[in-house]
Amino acid sequence: MKKNTEKKSEILLTEEDIQKRVAELGQTISKDYEGKNLLVISLLKGSFIFTADLVRNISMPVRIEFITTSTYGANEESAGELKITDLLDLPFSEYDILVVDDITDTAITMTGVLKHFASKNPKSLKACVLLDKPSRRKTEYTADYIGFEVPNVFIVGYGLNYGHHYRNEKNIIHFLD
Ligand code: IMP
Ligand code: MG
Repeated sequence: MKKNTEKKSEILLTEEDIQKRVAELGQTISKDYEGKNLLVISLLKGSFIFTADLVRNISMPVRIEFITTSTYGANEESAGELKITDLLDLPFSEYDILVVDDITDTAITMTGVLKHFASKNPKSLKACVLLDKPSRRKTEYTADYIGFEVPNVFIVGYGLNYGHHYRNEKNIIHFLD
């Protein structure tokens, strides 16, 4: 992809690496949720591409809803405070909820979102993230399903943004300083 920055970039995970792992995650989730009433709640904007690929690798009908969360502004620094918008009004107690996000970094987002949905008494509540950056945790947390562990570098592509761009980059890359 053409870049609007002078920075050099390096591919961390290729399109093929990602697709292979997403297919595996889909198979595992399909097995684990057999006979259950699966509701996927995808966290916009970062997880829209991952969610689209993941749910197409799940072999049962899935309800899919979206909420928007933010802790990051347009820069690389976490604001440290979680905002949830588009709060859903659904009969959550009928569903097995799987929250899907692109990356867990400090875990402020995922722990906050899980706390929010736990209060709705769903049948079960788990989380799936494509990427895990365990080195930056502010609160102890490990997702139930993890695609890849990644180093402490700022990651871009496959839904993840740099500034307001690059979500459409097919590989997962990072810009070198
Ligand atoms: P956390 O709350 O610090 O775990 O951060 C979670 C959110 O921050 C993710 O849903 C991403 O949208 C964003 N984020 C964290 N790390 C990165 C990164 O390396 N690149 C792009 N976005 C990131
Ligand atoms: Mg996000």
